[in-house]
Amino acid sequence: MDKELAGRRILVVGGNSGMGLALCEELLRRNCEVLVAGRSRDKLDVAISRLGSAGKVSAHVADVTQEDEVQRLFASCGPLHDIVCTAADVRGSYELLPALELEAIDRAIRSKVVAPILLAKHGAPRLAAGGSLTLTSGIAAYRPRPRGVAVAAINSALEGVVRAMAVELAPLRVNAVSPGWVRTPIWQDVAGAESEKMLAAMAERLPVGRIGTAADIAHAILFLLANGYTTGTVLHVEGGHRLV
Ligand SMILES: NC(=O)c1ccc[n+]([C@@H]2O[C@H](COP(=O)([O-])OP(=O)(O)OC[C@H]3O[C@@H](n4cnc5c(N)ncnc54)[C@H](OP(=O)(O)O)[C@@H]3O)[C@@H](O)[C@H]2O)c1
Repeated sequence: MDKELAGRRILVVGGNSGMGLALCEELLRRNCEVLVAGRSRDKLDVAISRLGSAGKVSAHVADVTQEDEVQRLFASCGPLHDIVCTAADVRGSYELLPALELEAIDRAIRSKVVAPILLAKHGAPRLAAGGSLTLTSGIAAYRPRPRGVAVAAINSALEGVVRAMAVELAPLRVNAVSPGWVRTPIWQDVAGAESEKMLAAMAERLPVGRIGTAADIAHAILFLLANGYTTGTVLHVEGGHRLV
């Protein structure tokens, strides 16, 4: 796998936190050139100082829900082999129906469904032969809990997008990883102060007996990037969550 990845230029949208940041670390270890994108300059600065691989990593401020910003992002990136998107803005979208605001649904849809479409629209023409897009779905589409209506809808929609884009953009490959519960900063937006209690209870329930790490998901994305025979696939990395 390392042989297939070495030397690739890979854009990681959402690479300033959580799974995306863990992926950037793994890619740099495999001699890839990594372009990290996110909205927050501060989070990008922290990520770049953690990644600290001079010349092999660069930061790009962009809100990928905005088409003009996506165009600007690709104009500044130069040629690429692959695009990975782990971006999500789920603030306010884990709510029971009476409290679910349209604004929060819109924001989450734009970050997880519209943004990947914009990235494909403007990014696919710039990808080298053998290139790929890897997107991020999630367990909420399969094991929704109360408060999960918006996120279940969004992840399900994204998986349809993956299949359609795998056909339309072929021979570029398009896949998604679908994480289970993984300890990352997103949990502040998902469950706030309740997070630790919920994660501990889930760890006991799961067949693997623990919550996922960002590195677990990064390793699955490495597989999707490197395996040239995989397209239109959703790779579940969730500790057996769909079984319980
Ligand atoms: N953690 C879990 O348990 C879990 C479970 C199932 C699915 N997932 C999915 O896995 C993916 C990665 O999640 P994570 O846990 O790694 O989350 P995270 O740590 O919150 O990272 C997501 C990153 O996306 C960036 N982002 C959000 N909106 C953006 C936009 N409009 N433009 C550019 N960047 C944007 C954010 O950076 P800025 O704020 O700087 O823009 C943030 O750093 C998400 O799709 C999430 O829904 C997570």
